Amino acid sequence: MEVFVSRRLPREGLAALAQAGACSIQQWDSDEPVPRAELLAGVAGKHGLLCLLSDRIDKEVLDAAGPNLKIISTLSVGVDHLALDEIKKRGIRVGYIPDILTDATAELSVALLLAACRRLPEAVEEVKNGGWTTWKPLWLCGYGLSGSTVGIVGLGRIGQAVARRLKPFGVKTFLYTGTRPKPERAVEFQAQFVPLAKLAEESDFVVVTCSLTPGTEGMCNKDFFGRMKKTSVFINTSRGAVVNQEDLHQALVSGQIAAAGLDVTSPEPLPTDHPLLSLKNCVILPHIGSATFATRSAMAVQAAHNLLAGLRGERLPSELQL
Ligand code: NDP
Ligand code: DGY
Repeated sequence: MEVFVSRRLPREGLAALAQAGACSIQQWDSDEPVPRAELLAGVAGKHGLLCLLSDRIDKEVLDAAGPNLKIISTLSVGVDHLALDEIKKRGIRVGYIPDILTDATAELSVALLLAACRRLPEAVEEVKNGGWTTWKPLWLCGYGLSGSTVGIVGLGRIGQAVARRLKPFGVKTFLYTGTRPKPERAVEFQAQFVPLAKLAEESDFVVVTCSLTPGTEGMCNKDFFGRMKKTSVFINTSRGAVVNQEDLHQALVSGQIAAAGLDVTSPEPLPTDHPLLSLKNCVILPHIGSATFATRSAMAVQAAHNLLAGLRGERLPSELQL
């Protein structure tokens, strides 16, 4: 069996693959993304592909791979980079990484929320640039979580883990939205299912943790931000394309919302001259939700195990049901 690995991985992942002795490995051994031409050449004739969320696996890649390909193992829980209909049609199985990265991503979501609502990057900057002249009653004030209403868009694995972490901050009410009410998930937080528009109107903090689908693409737009309170804070740790960034920029510049925190953008990386980067009330991180050493290492091992099980025709540790 032959496999293509599209990036340098945490060493535990490659070791798990190599030690199994089940396949010969061709790897794009770099921290930088594999160029498209190298990806197309690399997958040719392979039985397995271990890819990243930054690799667009579409018809062209599947055609280049040819009929040997049985398993695509992605080093992510998000699968919006995979042409799932096309993959299904060809009988290729997909391994992904739910659960393992939930805690790290929820922790980062909370960190980003606190950074945005308490204006931490601005405050750090003022200490460095001499703006800190004295203790001033009205200076660098933000918004706190105690007694607040938090709206979670997508009360899935990460959404629930975010709510669990925010509850001890004294959040009074949790609202959530999704494809349909999920009372069994909501009971822990006494969270109320509401339509997206009502969530926007009533929340002090909105945290977007849904997956990117045709139904969620561009969902946070002018209408959405227009409904939010002027004192509200918007956080997105899902995928950049869920947000209309021009509309978000306008909402931040005009004071329609107080602040935003984004771990994900469209495109990634965000060009350094992007208008959102010039705003003090917008905190942007480079997609580091799952970036703890332990999580990334466990993700790589799980991706290797998914790949190996797919090559052997066995049950995958975590298979996406197509
Ligand atoms: P889950 O599948 O557990 O949760 C996804 C949620 O999205 C579900 O609750 C689902 O709602 C919701 N959803 C789907 N469609 C809609 C819609 N139209 N409106 C509102 N909600 C919707 O996935 P995870 O929690 O494990 O991961 C979520 C996403 O987070 C991933 O797909 C990925 O894109 C992103 N992610 C980002 C990371 C980062 O580094 N920033 C790290 C890890 C993940 P319902 O339950 O009703 O079906
Ligand atoms: C994912 O897994 O989908 C994240 O975006 C990266 O961990």
